[in-house]
Amino acid sequence: MNGAAGVVAPARAKDLVDPFGRLVGDLRISVTDRCNFRCQYCMPAEGMTWLPRSEILSFEEIERFAQVCVERFGFESIRLTGGEPLVRAHLPRLVERLAGLGVDVALTTNGATLRLHAKPLASAGLSRINISLDSLQRDRFLELTRRDELDRVLDGIDAAIDAGLAPVKINTVMMRGINDDEVVDFARYGRERGVEVRFIEFMPLEAGDVWNADVVVPADEILAAISAEYPTEAVVRANEPAERYRYLDGGGHVGVIASVTKPFCGNCDRVRLTAEGQFRTCLFALDEFDMRSILRSGATGAELDDRLATAVRDAVGTKWAGHSIGQVNFIKPKRTMSQIGG
Ligand code: GTP
Ligand code: 5AD
Ligand code: SF4
Repeated sequence: MNGAAGVVAPARAKDLVDPFGRLVGDLRISVTDRCNFRCQYCMPAEGMTWLPRSEILSFEEIERFAQVCVERFGFESIRLTGGEPLVRAHLPRLVERLAGLGVDVALTTNGATLRLHAKPLASAGLSRINISLDSLQRDRFLELTRRDELDRVLDGIDAAIDAGLAPVKINTVMMRGINDDEVVDFARYGRERGVEVRFIEFMPLEAGDVWNADVVVPADEILAAISAEYPTEAVVRANEPAERYRYLDGGGHVGVIASVTKPFCGNCDRVRLTAEGQFRTCLFALDEFDMRSILRSGATGAELDDRLATAVRDAVGTKWAGHSIGQVNFIKPKRTMSQIGG
């Protein structure tokens, strides 16, 4: 207990704390490595090889792992990612099971098939949704994703709003010379639709070697461009990667995710499970911890839960302080974004 300064909640026995004192409580689960787009910065145009079905965790396995994180360690939020999570059949069934654990369940999607899925997802208990969209121009969208699906994505965004999936956020990865002329267009789009656009600095997790520091559009520059058109003020930051701003005229909110120029690693509370059950303590981690082999070891009941919990605790004990993008000691992980889940 602290004295006059107030009462600090004592650490709970089940808290999962990493070596740098950060409380871990957010699990990002990739449900598939497959995708119906081929974004330039994420995948090659052809020749992707997908994991065989047998290597992908079943919904039962995912639920069991998530349950251990929630019940043993008090995790409060789960985000489903991909590849593209909506290409996995019957996703609402998984959402329903995870929501049943009493946690906030969110989804990050490219939006291409969202028109079909928004209502069933909302009914299953999905609370929030983030949709990736890097251009509002049809030709450019086609060039970037190698799919002519801009209208479907825009339609999917409207369907998410109609289904009551609030807040709806748009993730826009900014790349110099590629889409950085669309900052104000995106800001206007977000204001008109009542959705929160978050501009993301491009990180070196792409297929191939596209990334260099010159391609990164710094968040400060993006914010200056927005504020020149629509004045903003900062919102006090919660424990999230995005810095959020409010439009002074009441036009809603906009955000920037400065993963490169101002990493949020110091506040990171995340861990990840890949589609084939590898546990990662950082987006850029080089080591993985095999949860699938424990899930499939034949252990059941409390023994299985104990083994999973021990493996999670051990893995979190290796979480590092943060990534070193742009520094000489940076090593790019072998997996690309679509194989990790963003
Ligand atoms: P909210 O909970 O809605 O704030 O979602 P989010 O921003 O955590 O997740 P989302 O999947 O929408 O990701 C937005 C961007 O943040 C993407 O570019 C992610 O790659 C990036 N991001 C997510 N988690 C991490 C992380 O642990 N480290 C870094 N550096 N970037 C991350
Ligand atoms: N850098 C930053 N964000 C990226 N995303 C995909 N690749 C990158 C990258 N190299 C974003 C996608 C999606 C989220 C999961 O990550 O646009 O919104
Ligand atoms: Fe698919 Fe997302 Fe990668 Fe684009 S960024 S190819 S939508 S996984």
